[in-house]
Amino acid sequence: MALIQLIYLSSLSDMKLESEIGKILESSVYHNKESGITGMLLYSNGNFLQVLEGETAAVEETFERICLDDRHCDIVDLIREPIEERQFSQWSMGYQHLSENYIRSFPKYAPFFKFRANDEAIRAEPGLALELLKQFSVDNR
Ligand SMILES: Cc1cc2nc3c(=O)[nH]c(=O)nc-3n(C[C@H](O)[C@H](O)[C@H](O)COP(=O)(O)O)c2cc1C
Repeated sequence: MALIQLIYLSSLSDMKLESEIGKILESSVYHNKESGITGMLLYSNGNFLQVLEGETAAVEETFERICLDDRHCDIVDLIREPIEERQFSQWSMGYQHLSENYIRSFPKYAPFFKFRANDEAIRAEPGLALELLKQFSVDNR
């Protein structure tokens, strides 16, 4: 059975929706457990970076649903590729909220966390997204 990894970036549609993140995580964990999806969601200053891994059909179905969610926008698909094994297998959906102050100490990741960070710097180096997700993975789910 073929596994894929999908990484995308998006922004909250409205900063007032920050309070929705708890609900988003709750439903993510519920659905991802059902469909064998694992991954990690990073959030900082209005921006999301998420990795989803699992069987191709399950990841595509989940991502389609996520894309229809109007709580976020400016979805930029960064990586979608076959993988031999999962890299975030511990989490149905791990989560980390990174403060602006904290991410300032990692200037190479700065483009990911500019509000509506839909720019060329990110597309040019998609491998950095995976590095960032791994670096900030935490075991909270
Ligand atoms: C940034 C973001 C990440 C999300 N990640 C997931 C996810 O990993 N899995 C999932 O099933 N839903 C995820 N969702 C939620 C879906 O868009 C959708 O609202 C949900 O799956 C619908 O299920 P529910 O009606 O049972 O809550 C995410 C939404 C946002 C805004």
